[in-house]
Amino acid sequence: MQTGVGSSTIVGSNDSTKLECAEANPTLPVIREMKIVSTEARVAGHYTRGGLEQTILQAMAKAGKDAARLTVEDLAPVDEFHVGGIEATKDLAAQMDLGPESCLLDVGCGIGGPARYFATEHGCKVTGIDLTEEFVLVAKSLTRRLNLDRLVEFHQASALALPFGPSTFDRAYMIHVGMNIADKATLFGQMHRVLKPGGLLAIFDIMRAARGPLRFPVPWALTEETSFVAEVSEYGDALEAAGFRVTHQRGRRAFAVEFIARNMARMAQGGPPALGIHLLVGEAAKPMLNNVLVMMEEGILDPVELCAVAV
Ligand SMILES: C[S@@+](CC[C@H](N)C(=O)[O-])C[C@H]1O[C@@H](n2cnc3c(N)ncnc32)[C@H](O)[C@@H]1O
Repeated sequence: MQTGVGSSTIVGSNDSTKLECAEANPTLPVIREMKIVSTEARVAGHYTRGGLEQTILQAMAKAGKDAARLTVEDLAPVDEFHVGGIEATKDLAAQMDLGPESCLLDVGCGIGGPARYFATEHGCKVTGIDLTEEFVLVAKSLTRRLNLDRLVEFHQASALALPFGPSTFDRAYMIHVGMNIADKATLFGQMHRVLKPGGLLAIFDIMRAARGPLRFPVPWALTEETSFVAEVSEYGDALEAAGFRVTHQRGRRAFAVEFIARNMARMAQGGPPALGIHLLVGEAAKPMLNNVLVMMEEGILDPVELCAVAV
């Protein structure tokens, strides 16, 4: 399947490896308003670096890792693109009642770190979708390198037009993606549609905890043009309107502040490590992380876990 987001091409269902639970559906409509399409193009542009896989492999070599024997843990400093890294993913997984039978959807999968973690640690089948073509290509390639492509697949697609039929997945998760999406009603409506009844949605996003101007840049946006940080109550309202019942909510500010402060202190001492999210966001990594840290300390932002059941 091919659909358009801005000027890029979205590749859907014509890969050779297929997971039984997640056949991308070429008949589903993907036409959206021009305004939303151009926001998506800007978001994808923000995350596109060019030559990313090569950059990661060179950094791996610099860190003394053998590219032929990469592990999920080796890649975690760069492929877990959210506050708290792989620890935060493990904590979210603990809320999800996962087993080898679980078919998971990763919405906004980035370069696939969380998806490979869920496959390796829990044996789940995971389908990741992301707007950013380069991230999807790198996600596929790293997954092949780790021999996980029988459990994990990736497609370029928008969270606002998921290319899957109704009741496809047992669980869905979204990590640090909602901050780029204004239309949370459509976002959660799409997730509700593709989840089986009783299916669980787990979210870990940075949310607004108090009024006040946001500082930019942040890792998800250079300006407010592509930043749509919302309050937890807005998430809750949109989830319920889409047919979910919220079952879990946990603010993670102390954990996140400690994580960012620790990483920034390490950077101040020895410069950026070979592997880190600076490979994904470029030289602005330091001011981006600092802005997030300051806004958390000011009480304006909170990273929050939310789980909700499709009723
Ligand atoms: C901060 S990264 C997080 C990546 C990944 N979830 C992780 O934790 O490693 C945000 C990701 O959301 C994706 N994204 C943003 N808006 C999206 C949309 N409307 N549909 C699909 N993906 C989107 C971006 O392309 C980017 O890969």
